Amino acid sequence: MAVRPIITAPDKRLKARSQPVDSVDDEVRALLDDMLETMYAADGIGLAAIQVGVPKRCIVADVHMADEPPTPLKLVNPEIVWRSDERVSREEGCLSFPDHYAEVERPESVTVAYRDETGTAQEVTAVGTLAVCLQHEIDHLEGVLFVDYLSLVKRSIILRKLTKARRAAAGA
Ligand code: NI
Repeated sequence: MAVRPIITAPDKRLKARSQPVDSVDDEVRALLDDMLETMYAADGIGLAAIQVGVPKRCIVADVHMADEPPTPLKLVNPEIVWRSDERVSREEGCLSFPDHYAEVERPESVTVAYRDETGTAQEVTAVGTLAVCLQHEIDHLEGVLFVDYLSLVKRSIILRKLTKARRAAAGA
């Protein structure tokens, strides 16, 4: 396993649509392992493959509490097959938007169909933080970012700050 560099916004790759995985092979399993290690190293709760520059429909998540054992999830070709009518607004962040958070409204609960790391079809119904996380990560596979739910003004402010921070880091 290895920690891979995370792409930060603004970056065109984050707007790309990721491609379905044909077969869950060793390369895909290695990618999923690297993604989990990268996510843990960055203190995140979710990560999509495109965030490490791989346009494949793979996501990982782990929303366990700090004092509980890890509950890693690896999802290949995840697809939302049910959404609750109830919607909730929660603060979201993203490893590709370091230090930026914003309220996003989404369905409170979703059911996601996916393939696990052995290629077996699975389904998970999630509420709370996991529901938010899975919807956020699946959005990444369509090139949709949490800031896309914000007003143009709010989105512009965040992107300008990120560009400025990157320039400052490059000049340091
Ligand atoms: Ni994200």
